[in-house]
Amino acid sequence: MYQCIACQGTLINKSTSIRICSHCGNSYPLIDEISVFLLPDSLSSLQCFIMEMEEIKSSFANISHRLEEHEQHSDDDMFANRIEMMKQGMAANSQVLDRTCKSISSFLADRPRKDNTLAWSSIKSGFTFHDMLPYFYQDWFGTPEFAKVKSLFSKTVAEHCKDWESVAVLGAGACGLLYSVADDFQVSYGVDLSLPTFITAKNFIQGEPLAFHLKRADWHKVELTPPESTANDIRYVVSDVMNMPFVSGSLSVVITQFMLDFVSNPKRLTEEIYRVLKPGGLWINFSNPCRMPGDPVELGRRKLNELPVFFEKMGFDVLSMENERFALLNLEKIYAEADNNEQLVHFFTLRKNENDRNLSGYDKPIQRFFKSNDSVWAETPRVVKGRELTFARKKSFEQGCSNELIEISVEGHYFSIPPNFAMLLDMLFKYVDGKNSLRKLFTVVHEKGISLNEDAFLQLIYVLNVQHYLIELEE
Ligand SMILES: C[S@@+](CC[C@H](N)C(=O)[O-])C[C@H]1O[C@@H](n2cnc3c(N)ncnc32)[C@H](O)[C@@H]1O
Repeated sequence: MYQCIACQGTLINKSTSIRICSHCGNSYPLIDEISVFLLPDSLSSLQCFIMEMEEIKSSFANISHRLEEHEQHSDDDMFANRIEMMKQGMAANSQVLDRTCKSISSFLADRPRKDNTLAWSSIKSGFTFHDMLPYFYQDWFGTPEFAKVKSLFSKTVAEHCKDWESVAVLGAGACGLLYSVADDFQVSYGVDLSLPTFITAKNFIQGEPLAFHLKRADWHKVELTPPESTANDIRYVVSDVMNMPFVSGSLSVVITQFMLDFVSNPKRLTEEIYRVLKPGGLWINFSNPCRMPGDPVELGRRKLNELPVFFEKMGFDVLSMENERFALLNLEKIYAEADNNEQLVHFFTLRKNENDRNLSGYDKPIQRFFKSNDSVWAETPRVVKGRELTFARKKSFEQGCSNELIEISVEGHYFSIPPNFAMLLDMLFKYVDGKNSLRKLFTVVHEKGISLNEDAFLQLIYVLNVQHYLIELEE
């Protein structure tokens, strides 16, 4: 059913909680029956989900502390209600986060701790569970927006689908769409990078009520009632959609909602969807317009009429394509002061050509980063146009103390990174000029005294090329 994401080898069950690749020996955990496929090392990435949760809880504790200080020093109580709601909301959400991470912590408790510098970066493209709470509201609170999406997808599946064996919903998040399409298929897979989000969605679908507070709605409480219980075969897969554990040509339908526009490289996602679909399989997409690699940055995102030529070249026939409008995360139902901006959405349905071109995915297979060979070392990296990295060293001063934080930004998205990783990137990118080969870069890294063996260096290149698409590689 699944294959190794590093070498495409066959997986064997070592125990009820670990699968192992019979070829390269990589191990993949199963937590609460959720399959975890993360590179370079799934076990280290699990640790990062816990760290991510601890960071959110500690930021809540800091905010509460600052609010309490304000209350102590203020002589009016104008904000008292909002402050109370916020403090209660953060305390309640911290408990939800704790519950969600319990099974990850107990899985890790029995095993020696493993740290891999790249592990945090493999989950960074995904959303944190806390960021996904508004999506739980959107999918499960009876919003008209979700009803619209559900109906668009079910009509399209009914009209175009010929094979009802399997569907995969990529970036499934709160899993509303996954649950709703699962009625039609023998097996339904949800794929997402956020394990805590899947643990919560799975427990909810299996009957556990969910309550949380929404920051975007001034910390109002949302209580969700689980859906009708279902005997549908729903499987949850934690994986990067750029490199999924599905065998080539194995899926009947792929669904993407607000995913093509979120990934670092929509062309690679298109190639990966082409790889996993059966010949004649369907891809149904609902997302904001996106820019394709190589498009002039100045022109921004593609218009609807500029898409068919791209997808036809990638091996798909266009069945339908239209503009839709969607009010993303519209909280009006619970919160009077919510924003409601309708966004433009591209809704399209494609069919993979019947005569599978057997591209085996890409021009150059991902596996070369995990099975060192001479030709990969001759490849030359260059910075991707429009995805240049910007570094910012931020220093803040508070009560005589100073804090320093290193942030990077790509296409306007900021995130903080560990200082040692920032140093490595800073040094490496000075030599990424479209002329130096990977071998040359590896030599430079060594000369600068950074201890990284060949395997770890190629894993770093995988992260930069496949996961975050900051560099492209040429022969
Ligand atoms: C904008 S949300 C959309 C969620 C859902 N499709 C919806 O529309 O309600 C994007 C989701 O994709 C996940 N995600 C982002 N990048 C991903 C990647 N490279 N691989 C797998 N999941 C990813 C995030 O964790 C998040 O759940």
